[in-house]
Amino acid sequence: MFEVRDVGLADQGRLQIEWAESRMPVLMMLRRRFSEEKPLKGVVVGACLHVTKETAVLVRTLKIGGAEVALCSSNPLSCQDDVAAALALDGIHVYAWRGQSVDEYYRSIENVLNHSPNILLDDGADLIVTLHRRYSKLIDACMGGNEETTTGVYRLKSMERKGELKIPIIAVNNAETKWDFDNVYGTGQSTLDGILRATNILLAGKNVVVAGYGHCGRGIAWRARGMGAHVIVTEVDPIKALKAVMDGFRVMPMIEAARIGDIFITATGNRDVVRAEHIDVMRDGAILCNAGHFDVEVSVRDLEIMSISKRRVRPYVDEYRLRDGRRIYLLAEGRLVNLVAAEGHPSEVMDMSFSNQALCVEYLIENRGKLKPGVYDVPIEIDRTVASLKLETLGVRIDRLTEEQIEYLSSFEYGT
Ligand code: ADE
Repeated sequence: MFEVRDVGLADQGRLQIEWAESRMPVLMMLRRRFSEEKPLKGVVVGACLHVTKETAVLVRTLKIGGAEVALCSSNPLSCQDDVAAALALDGIHVYAWRGQSVDEYYRSIENVLNHSPNILLDDGADLIVTLHRRYSKLIDACMGGNEETTTGVYRLKSMERKGELKIPIIAVNNAETKWDFDNVYGTGQSTLDGILRATNILLAGKNVVVAGYGHCGRGIAWRARGMGAHVIVTEVDPIKALKAVMDGFRVMPMIEAARIGDIFITATGNRDVVRAEHIDVMRDGAILCNAGHFDVEVSVRDLEIMSISKRRVRPYVDEYRLRDGRRIYLLAEGRLVNLVAAEGHPSEVMDMSFSNQALCVEYLIENRGKLKPGVYDVPIEIDRTVASLKLETLGVRIDRLTEEQIEYLSSFEYGT
């Protein structure tokens, strides 16, 4: 069963998937093993992920490993329709198309849950929250799930604290081979890619304001600096702010940055980071966009209230005219600019994130019934396996500890 935009796009989608496969060697190694061992035989996987060519490589790997897979999109605007078409004709139950309404988005999640999944893969936690709120009868048959993103891990930890989480969840986001790479290099590159594809502006010499200096904000700030922008960071956390200062960025409150910024990029995971009081003092022509999971970081509501007209001037670029005549440009409707206006993170980095996903699915199956409800870190062996395999595929060799070094590291006796 499937519901996609146009199955006629399947040939194009297959080419995209092939392209991603050629750049995801670790996941393809796992696929070869899964194809022989079939560790997912008899398991139904329900996934709510951005439907991209990289996600296609993951879900095809799970299917080749023996799973039945149902997939919907984790954002109404991020689905790559050609990829969805190719997957639909390849036996994946896909319920995804670009431009879903909120109702269609939740209907697609329900369609996935109607396949009675035993394992859930989520990006933002909407699937897992819907399971608990509306499909609790399926909880007993559910071995657990994986969460792909920071926002989702926060939500699930909140459920855990409130005693509402009823299944084990592996926080794939928090693996070192995920957040130190995907969140930093992936978000850094793909966010600028989205801004440039949407606007084609020159970054050199611009004042780029990055809100949030977590893994994602850091990646964005570094890459914007690399293209010649003057980067300003805003933060609420003193430690992260200090890191930004010592990484050489100017740090100031948003209300000050708002007066001088040309481009504003939010990556905080919080709401109303750019709001009326900031928009009030912005320069004519300022560009706003968001790289965080939900579309709450730039207050689109404030922008709507403050403006007298709105028009779409380019794909994914909306011009808001304020009462005093200033124009403010919002990219991708305030949704994830990297997945809406570009293609999300490059395959090479998703190779690591999605290898973690595949290995954590296998881990959940191997440990079914043994893990209590709660949010778990990715087992360190999985993290290290992903790093080792990635190095191997890159042709990079590293040193090994000598016996003496192992003994030294595990002792306290040696001193000055
Ligand atoms: N999140 C960010 N980039 C992605 C991609 N290329 N595929 C799936 N999820 C993503």
